[in-house]
Amino acid sequence: MVRPPLPPLAARRHRPYHRGMTSLDARGSLSPEVVWPTPSRPDPAPVRSTGKRAREANRPLPPIELELTGFAAGGRAVGHAEDGRVVFVEYGIPGERVVAEITDEHPGYLEATAVQVLRASEHRVEAPCRYFGKCGGCQVQHIAYDEQLRLKAEVVRDQLQRIGKFEADEARDLVLPMLGMDDPWHYRNHVRFTVRRDGEIGFMQRGTHRFMRIDECLIASDRVNEILDATQDRTMQTRQLSVRVGEHTDELMVQPKVQWRTGRAHGKLESGQSSYHESLLGTSYRISGPAFFQVNTRQAERLVALVLDHVREVSPRVVIDAYAGVGTFAAQLAAEVEHVVTIEESAAAGVDALENLGAFTNVTRVMGKVEDTLPGMTPAPDVVVIDPPRAGIYASVVQAILDSAAKRVVYVSCDPGTLARDLRLFVDGGFTIGSIQPVDMFPHTQHIECVTVLDRE
Ligand SMILES: C[S@@+](CC[C@H](N)C(=O)[O-])C[C@H]1O[C@@H](n2cnc3c(N)ncnc32)[C@H](O)[C@@H]1O
Repeated sequence: MVRPPLPPLAARRHRPYHRGMTSLDARGSLSPEVVWPTPSRPDPAPVRSTGKRAREANRPLPPIELELTGFAAGGRAVGHAEDGRVVFVEYGIPGERVVAEITDEHPGYLEATAVQVLRASEHRVEAPCRYFGKCGGCQVQHIAYDEQLRLKAEVVRDQLQRIGKFEADEARDLVLPMLGMDDPWHYRNHVRFTVRRDGEIGFMQRGTHRFMRIDECLIASDRVNEILDATQDRTMQTRQLSVRVGEHTDELMVQPKVQWRTGRAHGKLESGQSSYHESLLGTSYRISGPAFFQVNTRQAERLVALVLDHVREVSPRVVIDAYAGVGTFAAQLAAEVEHVVTIEESAAAGVDALENLGAFTNVTRVMGKVEDTLPGMTPAPDVVVIDPPRAGIYASVVQAILDSAAKRVVYVSCDPGTLARDLRLFVDGGFTIGSIQPVDMFPHTQHIECVTVLDRE
């Protein structure tokens, strides 16, 4: 396979914010003139207002000036409009004073985008990506990485209080500092690109159905960028291109099989694979097209190690791995405990798990929904590991775990809001939270992953 060299990457380091300047461009950097709306941003989305004022006027609401005092789930800073309504402000940072353009109006709150910084946060940096603010994949590249980590951990504390109704002191003590990456760039092992009829490859512009060409993605792995470079302007007969790479195995899954455009020179790229392998902590996994796998291999190894440590601590005999995917946790746990039961509803992930767990005689694979299969399951589990999608788990699943013999629950969550909701049910049912460890699986984006350990009192 010919692997063309990567084009030089844009500067990976954040550049500090220049204090003497006032207006924002799409990368969160300052420019001396006030440009508004800034030309490098996508055209402002029309205000989808449910409010009487904007509806009657049928025109965008005027921009507002406001202090940003907080940071919310979704990666947006929070301020208050003159009428007291909360305003969620994209591309702002707590502590700043900004001018914000209203993008949506709701009866109780407004949504807005910062277009001018009147007083900058010391944590504001120039986003290195030339597409930042346009493609929408990253929401917080304009914030220094250490501050991103601090703010995301604060979001978890905030959600515990607002949604889980935990006390502020409790939330502060339970949530540990977020585990960040030493090099928080080029981590994504899976990117789904949009392909235009003429072979151009890119993403959809933030908040629109408009295509934008991308020649490099700073959060995608080098290998993904190499494949983007090799296929850019050269493919046809597809609207999407999914690229998944094994960081440790060098294997690829490029779907669908690339149809090369006639007359455009191209190297040789193997594509159309239906599965590939990745390894975590030395354990190999087969992953097929429709199956979920963690997109950040380096941080996934830390996540798996955390889960393993929490399980080992209580020396269980039987562990249920619910929402097991291709067997990510089970393949590591099977070597350590007497019996592992996996529960997974995806048939594709189930087929992968058959290969990934096939060597173990102490693993039982249950195909089906957790809510249907977990209640009353035998053998009775000592520990339950749960790793649900963002929606979290049904109350009936919490109840089934409360009714089981499980003395420990290890809850891997990718949504602090549903995590807070579910933790309240566990705590009311007699479990105590040991700790909540946020792990930065998605640097520069709004997304927050947490590993929570709970024990039966
Ligand atoms: C966040 S992924 C975690 C997968 C795995 N633990 C890992 O780390 O690779 C969630 C998994 O739960 C599965 N899933 C979603 N809803 C489910 C349900 N109600 N019952 C069983 N599995 C479900 C999905 O197919 C997916 O494989």
